[in-house]
Amino acid sequence: MLTDVQKKFYRDQGFLVLPGFRSADAVNGLIARTHEIIAAFEPVGAPSVFHTGGYADAAFLASADRITCFFEEEAFDPDGAMRRPKAESMNKVGHALHDLDPVFDRFSRGADMAALAADLGLAQPQLRQSMVIFKPPRIGGEVGWHQDASFLITEPASVVGFWFALEDATLSNGCLWVEPGGHRGPLRQRFVRERDAVRMETLDCTPWPDASRAVPLEVAAGAMVCFNGLLPHYSGPNRSDRSRIAYTLHATDARCAWSPLNWLQRGPGLPLRSLD
Ligand code: FE2
Repeated sequence: MLTDVQKKFYRDQGFLVLPGFRSADAVNGLIARTHEIIAAFEPVGAPSVFHTGGYADAAFLASADRITCFFEEEAFDPDGAMRRPKAESMNKVGHALHDLDPVFDRFSRGADMAALAADLGLAQPQLRQSMVIFKPPRIGGEVGWHQDASFLITEPASVVGFWFALEDATLSNGCLWVEPGGHRGPLRQRFVRERDAVRMETLDCTPWPDASRAVPLEVAAGAMVCFNGLLPHYSGPNRSDRSRIAYTLHATDARCAWSPLNWLQRGPGLPLRSLD
């Protein structure tokens, strides 16, 4: 799947951009299916708002083996009314799209994904979670510096992120920024669950990179960015009038123990599957 040059780049830099990894038809099909899911979604009780940082509500914790829609913090006015149509108010949809929805299943798996995972060092990949991440025009929130290994804990760290651009991601609509080579640094935090409570624990006080170390990854729709779970990355807010939808998958290696501290715990009814 990957050339030796690409494998070396990934090893050295902690990430790799693969332009045109998915066809326009596949991308458009996934966006269309996403809109069907959103249109059909009726929150039970108050709608779930996704908060970055150490907060999670019951709907979030229950979403490990469901398809749940989460709203932007700025989607509601002070009286709790939605400012804009539902489809323009989304923060994310997750976290078991790849196992519960046939369109997402097809998009997420295949011989190319299995070969890619092997090239990136995942000997026994298990798909852990999937998310459609929205950055709606004008209200799309910032996601600060973090490492995905904080949220998908294995011993030792093994998580790899697969980030698909479903729309062009640019500087103005909130593309990814990464710290090249930063995956060789320590895991700084871990997001720990104890029953129905979560908290962010500090593991290492190494500061996040300063702005001079950050490199933007502007990519066209259809591109995939894969990155090591220890790579520090962030994305800015979207104050532009252009949407920025991405789809992410995270896989861990079955050789590495899945921590009971993870927020993401599946019930026995939905066994983990691989990438092919
Ligand atoms: Fe991330």
